[in-house]
Amino acid sequence: MARVVSFISEKGGTGKTTACYHIAVALQRFHNKQVLVVDTDYQRGGITGRFFPELIESFGSDEISGTTMFHKFQELYSAGERSPEVDIVSWKKSIDVIVSDPRLSAVTEDKLPSTQNIRENNRSLLKHLQVIDYVLDAVKEDYDYILIDSHPEVSDVLRSVIYSSDYCVSPVKFDRQSSIGVATVIGEINNVNADVELIKNSLDGDLEFLDTEFSGSMGMMAREWGGDLKRTEYLERNRLRRTGSVFETYVTEGDGLRRALLDREPVYNVSGNNANRQARQFRQLTREFLEKCP
Ligand SMILES: Nc1ncnc2c1ncn2[C@@H]1O[C@H](COP(=O)(O)OP(=O)(O)OP(=O)(O)O)[C@@H](O)[C@H]1O
Ligand SMILES: [Mg+2]
Repeated sequence: MARVVSFISEKGGTGKTTACYHIAVALQRFHNKQVLVVDTDYQRGGITGRFFPELIESFGSDEISGTTMFHKFQELYSAGERSPEVDIVSWKKSIDVIVSDPRLSAVTEDKLPSTQNIRENNRSLLKHLQVIDYVLDAVKEDYDYILIDSHPEVSDVLRSVIYSSDYCVSPVKFDRQSSIGVATVIGEINNVNADVELIKNSLDGDLEFLDTEFSGSMGMMAREWGGDLKRTEYLERNRLRRTGSVFETYVTEGDGLRRALLDREPVYNVSGNNANRQARQFRQLTREFLEKCP
């Protein structure tokens, strides 16, 4: 039964996609895990592009073909027949992917058919939160880990991502804005947990829901001086620890990951000292990930 872990941050460009991609590959390659990656980033579809560059060339201008998460929200809005099936694409026969769809940007609870009945409305809001979980539940048996990449913004898609997750992690740079961003992320996780509790109590019937947990922030693009974190980043990491848990392992800023992106390869496949170092860091981060998201 898969563990679902989402990569979220309030700020853009903090390394969510890079972290999600490299941990997914490491889980499969070095720990023999069955992995499904879900791309819910409708702005860039970054991780879809890492796996399938050809799909992302037309991202935004063209519709993604096949059945995506977007259609699952759509089914709810049209009050038509529902099914949890979406298209799952295999990457090099090693990792499965549910690709992103730019139309997910149109997802909002406002489109739900509304009624005069509060309980009916609550039921409908709950179903909206549950869309991604509904899809993943149908395939959870096939995987050890399901990793979800997301867009940097609080939205109704993100709330559904949080609902579906056992754990959330937050890739960050060690700067002042990150501490603020992580507090927002933790706040949104708490909001979803509290909303579910409230809706649950207003409806009869049992709903099995375990609170989504924040597993910690992950330092990305960290800068070192003389083998240790630079003083300012060291201080920011300490500040971050007062906000919530922080992964011990961080990944340093460097050319290895930039090369990996250009070559469309994971950093584990790239040669050179810097790439080797970043590959080691990601392998270490993945071991810690397995402990923090068991
Ligand atoms: N350790 C690193 N060293 C150098 N470059 C890095 C490192 N980590 C990430 N990058 C680069 O930084 C950029 C942003 O990273 P990434 O796309 O993973 O962030 P993101 O949080 O997913 O962004 P968005 O919010 O836009 O989805 C990318 O070009 C990526 O290759
Ligand atoms: Mg991204």
